[in-house]
Parts: sequence; C-alpha cells; structure tokens
Amino acid sequence: MNVLGVGTDITEVLRIAQMIERHGELFIARVYTPAEIEYCRTRTMATQHFAGRWAAKEAVLKALGTGWRRGISWRDVEVTNGAAGRPSVTLRGGTADFAEKMGIRCILASISHCRTHATASAVALDEIPATFTSEMPWV
Ligand SMILES: CC(C)(COP(=O)(O)OP(=O)(O)OC[C@H]1O[C@@H](n2cnc3c(N)ncnc32)[C@H](O)[C@@H]1OP(=O)(O)O)[C@@H](O)C(=O)NCCC(=O)NCCS
Repeated sequence: MNVLGVGTDITEVLRIAQMIERHGELFIARVYTPAEIEYCRTRTMATQHFAGRWAAKEAVLKALGTGWRRGISWRDVEVTNGAAGRPSVTLRGGTADFAEKMGIRCILASISHCRTHATASAVALDEIPATFTSEMPWV
C-alpha cells in the first residue's frame, strides 16, 4: 500500500460563523451536502462541526494534489461519521474523477475542533485498508 498524498488545514470557527451569518442557507447549501448539514445541525456546537468539515474538505484537496479548480465543487468532498464517530470521506464528481486518474482509492481523514479553531488532516492511499472497507462508500 502506498501513500499518494497528505493534506492538512486549520480553519477559524469564527470565519465560518460569519459566512453562515452573512450568506445563510446559500453558503451552507453550496459548501455542504445534505448529510453533512444534518450531522452538524444536530450537534450542540454546530458551527464547530461545520468548520471541521470545511477544514477536512481543504485537507482532502491538498491530499489529492489538486487545488480548487474548475469542475470541482465543495460538495464533491463529503465527510460522514460512522457509528463510533470516526469520519470517512466520500468523493464525487470532479474529485472522484481526479482521484481515479491519480490511482487514489481511499482517503483517510481526521478532524479536531475547539471553540476557536478546527483542524483536519487527510491521507490519500492507493489501496483500501481492510479495516476501513465498510466505511468507504465511494470505492
Ligand atoms: C474521538 C474522541 C476522542 C474525540 O475527542 P475530543 O477531543 O472530544 O474532540 P475533537 O474535537 O478532538 O474531535 C472531534 C472529532 O473527532 C472525530 N471522531 C469522533 N469519534 C471518532 C473515532 N471513533 N475515531 C476517529 N475519529 C473520531 C470526529 O471527526 C469529530 O468531529 P466531528 O464530530 O465534527 O466529525 C471522542 O469523541 C471519543 O472518545 N469517541 C469514542 C467513540 C464514542 O464514544 N462514541 C460515542 C457514540 S457511540
């Protein structure tokens, strides 16, 4: 198994809070998938979880080695959580096409957040680790 990329990001929770306040549903619907929105909104500190997903999306883009470019939307990277809370990444559209071209078959991600900041890291692999198979719906 080979590591084909790594990525990390740190996001200010306040910045996400301001985007939500200024642009409301437009911002949320543009950046987050329905599953992500439902997950965040059912948490007490919703904004921290939104910020965590923002950081995760940026980290995944870095791990893929593509930047934000034409044909890639924020919603092409989705973070969902398994029963124990572990995040897993689903790629769609532009990011799925790019990953396929690069031979990336699996992205592992980790998220952390506190009152002020959210951080995330991502690792791109050319194989699916056996223990993660059930949480990798995009492969
Ligand atoms: C993982 C854990 C240590 C995180 O601790 P924390 O310091 O309070 O919180 P952090 O801000 O550092 O991390 C939160 C992120 O950890 C991740 N996380 C949660 N559970 C995880 C797990 N089992 N494995 C890996 N990552 C996990 C999530 O991405 C979460 O952010 P999100 O909810 O926005 O997706 C803690 O949640 C834990 O012990 N979980 C065990 C599983 C559990 O108790 N599940 C209860 C539901 S059955």
